[in-house]
Amino acid sequence: MMTAPLRVTEMTTVPVALGARAYDIVIGRGLLAELGKRIAALKPGASAAIVTDETVAARHLKPAEGALAAAGIRAVPIVVPPGEATKSWRVLEEVCDRLLEARIERNDVVIALGGGVIGDLAGFAAAILRRGLDVVQVPTTLLAQVDSSVGGKTAINARHGKNLIGAFHQPILVIADTALLDTLPPREFRAGYAELAKFGLLGDAGFFGWLEANWQDVFAGGSCSGRFAREHAIAVACRGKAGIVARDERETGERALLNLGHTFGHAFEAAAGFSDKLLHGEAIALGIVCAFEFSTRLGLMPTNDAGRVAHHLAVAGLPTRPSDVPALRTDPDRLMTLIAQDKKVARGKLTFILARGIGQAFVERDVDPAQVRAFLAEKLS
Ligand SMILES: NC(=O)c1ccc[n+]([C@@H]2O[C@H](COP(=O)([O-])OP(=O)(O)OC[C@H]3O[C@@H](n4cnc5c(N)ncnc54)[C@H](O)[C@@H]3O)[C@@H](O)[C@H]2O)c1
Ligand SMILES: [Zn+2]
Repeated sequence: MMTAPLRVTEMTTVPVALGARAYDIVIGRGLLAELGKRIAALKPGASAAIVTDETVAARHLKPAEGALAAAGIRAVPIVVPPGEATKSWRVLEEVCDRLLEARIERNDVVIALGGGVIGDLAGFAAAILRRGLDVVQVPTTLLAQVDSSVGGKTAINARHGKNLIGAFHQPILVIADTALLDTLPPREFRAGYAELAKFGLLGDAGFFGWLEANWQDVFAGGSCSGRFAREHAIAVACRGKAGIVARDERETGERALLNLGHTFGHAFEAAAGFSDKLLHGEAIALGIVCAFEFSTRLGLMPTNDAGRVAHHLAVAGLPTRPSDVPALRTDPDRLMTLIAQDKKVARGKLTFILARGIGQAFVERDVDPAQVRAFLAEKLS
């Protein structure tokens, strides 16, 4: 999966080749203005409901409504509170009721305007309402533009854990307007950057090298020197994810690679109580570094790629050691309990995404928990 030349101009389209469920991811600055036109082209005569959160609504709902109105599309806003707690039965029920009240029917469309929380919630509501409504994802966080809006995984959280109630429901269109990221708090942007870097680390060493050289332009977005750097990075990540999803839509194999850094990361995230102490992407930065260091420890990686990964993520402002997160108090045994809860343990063995180097991740289903514990004990000491 090397970085073949990808021409990024004002607008890039990445197709997701899923046969009858194929769709486009369109990436570019200012694309929100085309929302109505693009939906009208796909679904002439459709009405729309825009599901969004209060924070995003304050910044981007008016332009979204304007773009729909300009194309003659009737649109009803459904605004929910921001935050992970919104991925709940209660809010799902409310969203479904309001979609029904708004008479959104089978030939209409649900628009998810927001980060991963809104994409997962609105996507799931669309999956189950009237046995399935079309959804258009308009991701507004970096994490959502490179990861959660693509691939059709939708879910809410259960008392027993994250994302346990959900469905595969592919969108009919993803519009990633990179200008929407200008209002994103820097910390949220950095957290999304961990998931962006993940695409280089799991299968595209060339892209990781490009990020090492150009990450500042990706953060700056639209600056003169790095014109299109942000768009290029998002397009490469989307192309990577689109390829994986097209080959393994339901995660029976290769799609698991997208969980690089997530087994360790989820344990840190859970140890921090899924709170603002540690954002998901920050936990993934920690987790990715762990996955590389653990792979090195297992003798899988001859070179110092783990050091290179940790260095880059740290330079970009992400935590790479548990001690970088002072509020995170945990110990190896607690982390092991959390890892065992998060992952299926088969015959006393754990599944991890490990790597033979940057861009060379693979699924290992035979990891000895004792080795993981020893590694974590060292890491936390
Ligand atoms: N479906 C998938 O494949 C998948 C993949 C990865 C993550 N996820 C899910 O995604 C969620 C995390 O997504 P996230 O990091 O986008 O979080 P989020 O949706 O909570 O957004 C983060 C914060 O940024 C705010 N925000 C969003 N866009 C903004 C903008 N343009 N300007 C200013 N503020 C803005 C939101 O209101 C929120 O407070 C988790 O629930 C995770 O489980 C899903
Ligand atoms: Zn993630």
